[in-house]
Amino acid sequence: MMHALKFALAAGIALAAAHAPAQEHDPAMHMQHQAQAAKTTKAAPQDIRQAVKFPKMLREHTLTNMRDHLLALQEIQEALAKQEYDTAGDIAEQRLGMSSLALHGAHDVAPFMPKGMQEAGTAMHRNASRFAVAAKDASATGDVKPALAALAATTAQCVACHAGYRVQ
Ligand code: HEC
Repeated sequence: MMHALKFALAAGIALAAAHAPAQEHDPAMHMQHQAQAAKTTKAAPQDIRQAVKFPKMLREHTLTNMRDHLLALQEIQEALAKQEYDTAGDIAEQRLGMSSLALHGAHDVAPFMPKGMQEAGTAMHRNASRFAVAAKDASATGDVKPALAALAATTAQCVACHAGYRVQ
C-alpha cells in the first residue's frame, strides 16, 4: 500500500513538473522540451544483452524449458497459497532444482553458454533445491518465510540471466 502510494505521489510530482507553467511560456524552453520528448519516445531502449549462439534445436529446446520454468513458478505459488508446502517443494526440485538438470539437457546446453550464463543457471538450480528443502521445513514448522526468501533468490537468477543474455 505505502509503496503504491509513494509511487503515485512521485508520478504526480513528475507530471506536475513536466507541465510547469513557467516553462510553457518560454518558447525556447518549450522547443527544448519537445526535442527531449521526441528523443525519449523514438529511441527504443538499447539491448545490451550478450547474444549467445545456440544450435537451432537446442535453442527451441531451451525456450520450451523456459516456458516450463515460468509454469513451475506459477504452480509453486499456487501450492504455497494453499499451504501445500510439500507439493511446492516437489515441483521446485523436479522442474527447477538440481534434480531437473538431466530433464533440461543441461549437459548438452552448458558448453554453448558463457561462464556468467552457466553460473546463473547453476545458482538458479541450487536456490530452487534450497527452496524445496525450506518448503518441506515449512510444512513442519508452519513458518513459510525462509521458503519465500529462497524462492525470491531463485527468481533473482531468472532475472539476472535474462538481463545479461539472449540466444540466437
Ligand atoms: C542461465 C540463464 C537463464 C536462466 C537462469 C533463466 N532463463 Fe529464461 N531465458 C534465458 C534466455 C537466454 C532466454 C531467451 C531470451 C532471448 O533470446 O530473448 C530465456 C527466455 C525465457 C522465456 C521466454 C520463452 C520463449 O518462448 O521465448 C521465459 C518464459 C523464461 N525464460 C522464463 C524463465 C524463468 C521463469 C526462469 C527462472 C525460474 C528462467 N527463465 C531462468 C535464460 C535464462
